[in-house]
Amino acid sequence: MTETYSLAEATMKVILDRRSIREFTDEPVSEEDLQAILECARQAPSGENAQPWRFIIVKDPARRKAIAAIAGGGSGRRFTAEFVTKKMQERFATLQDEAKKKAAFEKLTSGQVSAFVGDAPVIIVVCGKKDTWDMPYDTSAAIENMLLMITALGLGGCWVIAPCIDVRDEERMQELLGVPAGYKVVSAISVGHPVRPHRPRPRLPLHELVYSEEWGTPYYEAKQ
Ligand SMILES: Cc1cc2nc3c(=O)[nH]c(=O)nc-3n(C[C@H](O)[C@H](O)[C@H](O)COP(=O)(O)O)c2cc1C
Repeated sequence: MTETYSLAEATMKVILDRRSIREFTDEPVSEEDLQAILECARQAPSGENAQPWRFIIVKDPARRKAIAAIAGGGSGRRFTAEFVTKKMQERFATLQDEAKKKAAFEKLTSGQVSAFVGDAPVIIVVCGKKDTWDMPYDTSAAIENMLLMITALGLGGCWVIAPCIDVRDEERMQELLGVPAGYKVVSAISVGHPVRPHRPRPRLPLHELVYSEEWGTPYYEAKQ
Protein backbone atom coordinates (compact mmCIF):
# COMPACT_ATOMS: atom_id res chain seq x y z
CA MET A 1 0.00 0.00 0.00
CA THR A 2 1.39 3.41 -0.92
CA GLU A 3 0.65 6.23 1.42
CA THR A 4 0.30 9.75 0.12
CA TYR A 5 1.71 12.66 2.06
CA SER A 6 1.61 16.41 1.63
CA LEU A 7 5.04 17.96 1.13
CA ALA A 8 5.02 19.18 4.75
CA GLU A 9 4.04 15.73 6.05
CA ALA A 10 6.67 14.05 3.89
CA THR A 11 9.34 16.48 5.12
CA MET A 12 8.34 15.89 8.75
CA LYS A 13 8.37 12.13 8.19
CA VAL A 14 11.91 12.17 6.80
CA ILE A 15 13.11 14.34 9.69
CA LEU A 16 11.44 12.08 12.27
CA ASP A 17 12.62 8.87 10.58
CA ARG A 18 16.28 9.93 10.43
CA ARG A 19 18.47 8.27 12.99
CA SER A 20 22.11 7.42 13.31
CA ILE A 21 22.60 4.04 11.69
CA ARG A 22 25.75 2.16 12.66
CA GLU A 23 25.21 -1.30 11.17
CA PHE A 24 25.14 -1.94 7.45
CA THR A 25 24.53 -4.84 5.09
CA ASP A 26 27.01 -5.60 2.31
CA GLU A 27 24.68 -4.19 -0.33
CA PRO A 28 26.38 -1.39 -2.21
CA VAL A 29 24.94 2.11 -2.47
CA SER A 30 23.85 2.85 -6.05
CA GLU A 31 25.53 5.64 -7.96
CA GLU A 32 22.10 7.18 -8.53
CA ASP A 33 21.43 7.36 -4.77
CA LEU A 34 24.89 8.77 -4.14
CA GLN A 35 24.30 11.49 -6.70
CA ALA A 36 20.99 12.46 -5.02
CA ILE A 37 22.73 12.64 -1.63
CA LEU A 38 25.55 14.82 -2.98
CA GLU A 39 23.12 17.10 -4.80
CA CYS A 40 21.40 17.72 -1.45
CA ALA A 41 24.76 18.73 0.02
CA ARG A 42 25.39 21.09 -2.89
CA GLN A 43 22.03 22.81 -2.37
CA ALA A 44 22.63 23.58 1.32
CA PRO A 45 22.77 27.20 2.46
CA SER A 46 26.15 28.75 3.26
CA GLY A 47 27.27 32.11 4.64
CA GLU A 48 27.83 34.55 1.72
CA ASN A 49 27.10 31.53 -0.49
CA ALA A 50 30.75 30.55 0.02
CA GLN A 51 30.08 26.83 -0.55
CA PRO A 52 33.31 25.96 1.29
CA TRP A 53 32.54 22.23 1.32
CA ARG A 54 34.35 19.50 -0.58
CA PHE A 55 33.45 15.81 -0.41
CA ILE A 56 35.64 12.74 -0.78
CA ILE A 57 33.80 9.51 -1.60
CA VAL A 58 35.64 6.62 -0.01
CA LYS A 59 34.71 3.07 -1.07
CA ASP A 60 38.10 1.37 -1.02
CA PRO A 61 38.10 -1.21 1.83
CA ALA A 62 41.68 -0.49 2.91
CA ARG A 63 41.00 3.24 3.11
CA ARG A 64 37.73 2.68 4.99
CA LYS A 65 39.62 0.48 7.44
CA ALA A 66 42.21 3.20 7.97
CA ILE A 67 39.46 5.78 8.63
CA ALA A 68 37.78 3.31 11.03
CA ALA A 69 41.02 2.94 13.01
CA ILE A 70 41.41 6.72 13.31
CA ALA A 71 37.73 7.11 14.29
CA GLY A 72 37.95 4.35 16.90
CA GLY A 73 41.03 5.91 18.46
CA GLY A 74 39.45 9.39 18.50
CA SER A 75 36.24 8.32 20.20
CA GLY A 76 38.14 6.08 22.65
CA ARG A 77 40.24 9.05 23.79
CA ARG A 78 37.22 11.37 23.98
CA PHE A 79 35.21 8.93 26.09
CA THR A 80 38.23 8.23 28.29
CA ALA A 81 38.49 11.99 28.90
CA GLU A 82 34.76 12.01 29.75
CA PHE A 83 35.30 9.14 32.14
CA VAL A 84 38.28 10.60 34.01
CA THR A 85 36.53 13.98 34.36
CA LYS A 86 33.45 12.13 35.72
CA LYS A 87 31.19 13.54 33.00
CA MET A 88 30.39 10.05 31.80
CA GLN A 89 29.30 8.98 35.28
CA GLU A 90 26.97 12.02 35.38
CA ARG A 91 25.54 11.12 31.99
CA PHE A 92 24.74 7.60 33.19
CA ALA A 93 23.60 8.62 36.69
CA THR A 94 20.03 7.39 36.17
CA LEU A 95 21.16 3.91 35.07
CA GLN A 96 20.78 1.76 38.21
CA ASP A 97 22.14 -1.52 36.87
CA GLU A 98 25.83 -1.41 37.85
CA ALA A 99 26.84 -4.27 35.53
CA LYS A 100 25.22 -2.52 32.55
CA LYS A 101 26.86 0.73 33.51
CA LYS A 102 30.30 -0.90 33.72
CA ALA A 103 29.79 -2.57 30.34
CA ALA A 104 28.75 0.77 28.79
CA PHE A 105 31.82 2.54 30.22
CA GLU A 106 34.07 -0.24 28.95
CA LYS A 107 32.56 -0.15 25.49
CA LEU A 108 32.74 3.62 25.23
CA THR A 109 36.35 3.91 26.41
CA SER A 110 37.51 0.82 24.48
CA GLY A 111 38.36 2.72 21.30
CA GLN A 112 35.83 0.71 19.33
CA VAL A 113 32.88 3.10 19.25
CA SER A 114 32.80 4.97 15.91
CA ALA A 115 35.06 2.39 14.26
CA PHE A 116 31.80 1.10 12.74
CA VAL A 117 32.19 3.86 10.13
CA GLY A 118 34.49 1.51 8.21
CA ASP A 119 31.70 -1.08 7.89
CA ALA A 120 29.64 1.22 5.68
CA PRO A 121 30.14 0.59 1.94
CA VAL A 122 30.56 4.31 1.39
CA ILE A 123 32.09 7.00 3.57
CA ILE A 124 31.55 10.59 2.53
CA VAL A 125 34.39 12.59 4.04
CA VAL A 126 33.37 16.23 4.40
CA CYS A 127 36.11 18.85 4.15
CA GLY A 128 35.79 22.61 4.56
CA LYS A 129 37.86 25.51 3.26
CA LYS A 130 39.56 26.98 6.32
CA ASP A 131 39.62 30.59 5.17
CA THR A 132 35.82 31.08 5.06
CA TRP A 133 33.80 32.79 7.80
CA ASP A 134 31.06 30.28 8.43
CA MET A 135 32.63 27.00 7.35
CA PRO A 136 31.58 24.87 10.40
CA TYR A 137 27.95 25.97 10.00
CA ASP A 138 28.02 25.62 6.21
CA THR A 139 29.39 22.09 6.29
CA SER A 140 26.91 21.16 9.05
CA ALA A 141 24.01 22.33 6.86
CA ALA A 142 25.33 20.24 3.98
CA ILE A 143 25.72 17.20 6.23
CA GLU A 144 22.16 17.41 7.58
CA ASN A 145 20.80 17.76 4.03
CA MET A 146 22.68 14.56 3.12
CA LEU A 147 21.43 12.69 6.19
CA LEU A 148 17.85 13.58 5.31
CA MET A 149 18.21 12.38 1.72
CA ILE A 150 19.95 9.21 2.96
CA THR A 151 16.82 8.58 5.08
CA ALA A 152 14.40 9.45 2.28
CA LEU A 153 16.14 6.90 0.04
CA GLY A 154 15.68 4.16 2.66
CA LEU A 155 19.41 4.10 3.36
CA GLY A 156 21.09 4.65 6.72
CA GLY A 157 23.86 6.99 7.73
CA CYS A 158 25.64 8.49 10.67
CA TRP A 159 27.51 11.74 11.21
CA VAL A 160 30.89 10.71 12.61
CA ILE A 161 33.16 13.41 13.95
CA ALA A 162 35.41 10.90 15.73
CA PRO A 163 38.24 10.85 13.14
CA CYS A 164 38.47 14.65 13.29
CA ILE A 165 38.29 15.47 17.02
CA ASP A 166 42.00 15.45 17.66
CA VAL A 167 44.38 17.59 15.58
CA ARG A 168 46.76 14.65 15.26
CA ASP A 169 43.95 12.53 13.81
CA GLU A 170 43.02 15.38 11.51
CA GLU A 171 46.57 15.30 10.19
CA ARG A 172 46.29 11.52 9.71
CA MET A 173 43.05 11.96 7.76
CA GLN A 174 44.60 14.79 5.76
CA GLU A 175 47.53 12.59 4.79
CA LEU A 176 45.42 9.50 4.09
CA LEU A 177 43.14 11.39 1.73
CA GLY A 178 45.61 13.90 0.28
CA VAL A 179 43.66 16.91 1.59
CA PRO A 180 45.53 20.19 0.96
CA ALA A 181 46.57 22.45 3.86
CA GLY A 182 43.88 25.08 3.17
CA TYR A 183 41.13 22.58 3.95
CA LYS A 184 40.03 20.99 7.22
CA VAL A 185 38.62 17.48 7.41
CA VAL A 186 35.33 18.11 9.22
CA SER A 187 33.56 14.77 9.58
CA ALA A 188 32.92 11.38 8.00
CA ILE A 189 29.42 10.30 7.00
CA SER A 190 28.75 6.59 6.78
CA VAL A 191 26.26 5.54 4.11
CA GLY A 192 24.79 2.11 3.51
CA HIS A 193 21.76 -0.13 3.78
CA PRO A 194 20.70 -0.49 7.42
CA VAL A 195 20.72 -3.96 8.96
CA ARG A 196 17.60 -3.13 10.99
CA PRO A 197 15.49 -0.16 11.99
CA HIS A 198 16.87 1.83 14.87
CA ARG A 199 15.05 3.11 17.94
CA PRO A 200 14.70 6.88 18.22
CA ARG A 201 16.96 8.56 20.77
CA PRO A 202 15.12 10.75 23.30
CA ARG A 203 14.69 14.47 22.68
CA LEU A 204 14.09 17.27 25.18
CA PRO A 205 10.50 18.58 25.08
CA LEU A 206 9.87 21.85 23.21
CA HIS A 207 8.67 23.58 26.36
CA GLU A 208 12.19 23.22 27.80
CA LEU A 209 13.78 24.64 24.67
CA VAL A 210 11.68 27.59 23.59
CA TYR A 211 11.30 30.99 25.26
CA SER A 212 8.96 33.86 24.51
CA GLU A 213 10.46 37.28 23.69
CA GLU A 214 13.34 36.87 26.13
CA TRP A 215 15.38 34.10 27.73
CA GLY A 216 13.54 32.32 30.55
CA THR A 217 9.92 33.22 29.73
CA PRO A 218 8.29 29.95 28.73
CA TYR A 219 6.85 30.24 25.21
CA TYR A 220 4.23 27.56 25.63
CA GLU A 221 2.61 29.23 28.64
CA ALA A 222 2.68 32.71 27.05
CA LYS A 223 1.54 31.54 23.59
CA GLN A 224 -1.77 32.94 22.38
C1 LIG B 1 28.27 16.87 15.24
C2 LIG B 1 27.95 15.41 15.45
C3 LIG B 1 28.98 14.52 15.62
C4 LIG B 1 28.71 13.15 15.81
N1 LIG B 1 29.74 12.28 15.91
C5 LIG B 1 29.50 10.98 16.11
C6 LIG B 1 30.59 10.07 16.21
O1 LIG B 1 31.76 10.43 16.11
N2 LIG B 1 30.30 8.75 16.38
C7 LIG B 1 29.01 8.29 16.46
O2 LIG B 1 28.82 7.08 16.62
N3 LIG B 1 27.95 9.14 16.38
C8 LIG B 1 28.17 10.46 16.20
N4 LIG B 1 27.11 11.34 16.07
C9 LIG B 1 25.73 10.84 16.13
C10 LIG B 1 25.06 11.18 17.48
O3 LIG B 1 25.54 10.30 18.48
C11 LIG B 1 23.54 11.04 17.30
O4 LIG B 1 23.10 11.99 16.36
C12 LIG B 1 22.77 11.27 18.61
O5 LIG B 1 23.09 10.29 19.57
C13 LIG B 1 21.25 11.27 18.40
O6 LIG B 1 20.84 10.05 17.81
P1 LIG B 1 20.10 10.03 16.40
O7 LIG B 1 21.01 10.65 15.37
O8 LIG B 1 19.83 8.58 16.09
O9 LIG B 1 18.84 10.83 16.54
C14 LIG B 1 27.36 12.69 15.85
C15 LIG B 1 26.32 13.61 15.66
C16 LIG B 1 26.62 14.95 15.43
C17 LIG B 1 25.49 15.92 15.17
